[in-house]
Amino acid sequence: MERTWWKEAVIYQIYLRSFQDSNGDGVGDIPGIISRLDYLQKLGVTVLWLNPCYPSPDVDNGYDISDYCGIAPRFGTMEDFDRLLAETHRRGMKLVMDLVVNHTSSEHPWFKESRKSKDNPYRDYYIWRPAKDGREPNNWGSHFTPSAWEYDETTGEYYLHLFAKEQPDLNWENPAVRREVWKLMRFWLDKGVDGFRMDVINLIKKPAGLPDSPKAPTCAEGYSFDCELYANNPGLCDFFREMDREVLRDYDVMTVGETARVTPEFALDYVGEPERLLSMVFHFQIVELRDGFTWPKFKAIQRMWADKLWGRGWSSQFLQNHDQPRCVSVYGDDGAYRTQSAKLLGTMLHTLPGTPYVYQGEELGMANTPFTDISQYNDINAKFDYSELIAAGKTPQQALAVLNRYSRDHARTPMQWDASENAGFTSGTPWLMVNPDYVRVNAAAQESDPDSVLNYYRRLIALRKERPAMVYGEFTEYEAGRGDVYVYTRTLGDERLLVTLNLTGEPAEVRLPAEGVPAPLLCNYPDAPAADKTLTLRPWEAVIWNA
Ligand code: GLC
Repeated sequence: MERTWWKEAVIYQIYLRSFQDSNGDGVGDIPGIISRLDYLQKLGVTVLWLNPCYPSPDVDNGYDISDYCGIAPRFGTMEDFDRLLAETHRRGMKLVMDLVVNHTSSEHPWFKESRKSKDNPYRDYYIWRPAKDGREPNNWGSHFTPSAWEYDETTGEYYLHLFAKEQPDLNWENPAVRREVWKLMRFWLDKGVDGFRMDVINLIKKPAGLPDSPKAPTCAEGYSFDCELYANNPGLCDFFREMDREVLRDYDVMTVGETARVTPEFALDYVGEPERLLSMVFHFQIVELRDGFTWPKFKAIQRMWADKLWGRGWSSQFLQNHDQPRCVSVYGDDGAYRTQSAKLLGTMLHTLPGTPYVYQGEELGMANTPFTDISQYNDINAKFDYSELIAAGKTPQQALAVLNRYSRDHARTPMQWDASENAGFTSGTPWLMVNPDYVRVNAAAQESDPDSVLNYYRRLIALRKERPAMVYGEFTEYEAGRGDVYVYTRTLGDERLLVTLNLTGEPAEVRLPAEGVPAPLLCNYPDAPAADKTLTLRPWEAVIWNA
């Protein structure tokens, strides 16, 4: 298998508005990131992925871009960005940008032109349709609004938006749109950025003829939100091929596609060797289990992806991002076993096949925030879900209970640096509340504690750099049917690593698949257990063995 830097990478996601504020306006910024680069270098991560930092009206926290080649003043200046890039590179790390080109902001100059008249040169940059039988052109629902169509009075037509109405979808069928995208990608690559995380990139190809969804209505207003219909459409790879030919192949960069509803079969179209249109994708089969989550299902999904992609295309691992609640609250135990379970999840993330993505604060075991009122939420998605739940007859308490499990705002609360006011994130008023547990859970406290989640992550990431089997080793699972433990090996030539994880708060016994007695390399308790043919794992215990 070809060895590349992005397969060996540990990628750290920076949601910059919540990372570090440097000027007291309550919003994280680029100088703030620069002041924390030493922390990131010491953590050992090798690539930083920056959420959108471009000018934006911020309807969807920067995912509605009004200028692709600028820096939002609230985050700093282009000089600040250039300094961030240089300082990141100087520390031996790389920087990956968010590429959001399924849609723009409705404040983008292209859209402002497009809506002016039907014969405007920019008209065809977006997807406009006349009314059908006096209403929307089809029954599509959007992520953040009931209908995916918005009527525009100036020209008497509707435009398509799969997200907010302030996020009109670009018309990728228009070659001029594609040329604009290649140009803006080159703008950043020529500056020296090391790749792109591509926002909802498998939605850029719409189904031919924009047919009605056959799904029953999925929202109170009667529209059908049908991501299967919007995603992975035939012809998508032609866009990727053109992107590769026109831009990517001239640079040594990585790309990761955010691809909802992707199956291993679709993924192989995108990441399959030797064509390899994208380096890797994010799939959502695990996070989408939601209330149906069980460890056997999790393990089956991992097994399926490992089997289907092994030797054929690369993959990624993530347990959370800025759109998902905190992983220690979802998959671990954010109460009594918070430290152990946060370390266990990190162990799993760095030892399963694929490049691991660590979301800011995950290395501290940051947990969900106990929001008590809808006014404490910021996210457009939370507000939409809340209104739909109320419309469906739920009480405010019931609606809040749903949001408190899944809201994207859990991930977005400020980074917990220390025990001072606002967790050391800002000297002003933070744009989103700080999780009140910051007085206990913060980077400064963990720095001086050898058994902290933070110090464990440092050892874990260092181990991944020393042991190629953690990256390139073949994956074999044992005890597959069990929901209480996760046991697997990664084998590369003579090197065999065994991972034993207890997924519960009770002791669990496992039979060791190794011949001979394995030697512990890393354990999330201060002392590693003694191993013989069987092993009793303590609650949420994780051990990596040389086997
Ligand atoms: C992606 C982003 C999410 C955003 C959406 C629309 O899913 O991760 O935050 O709301 O795309 O751009």
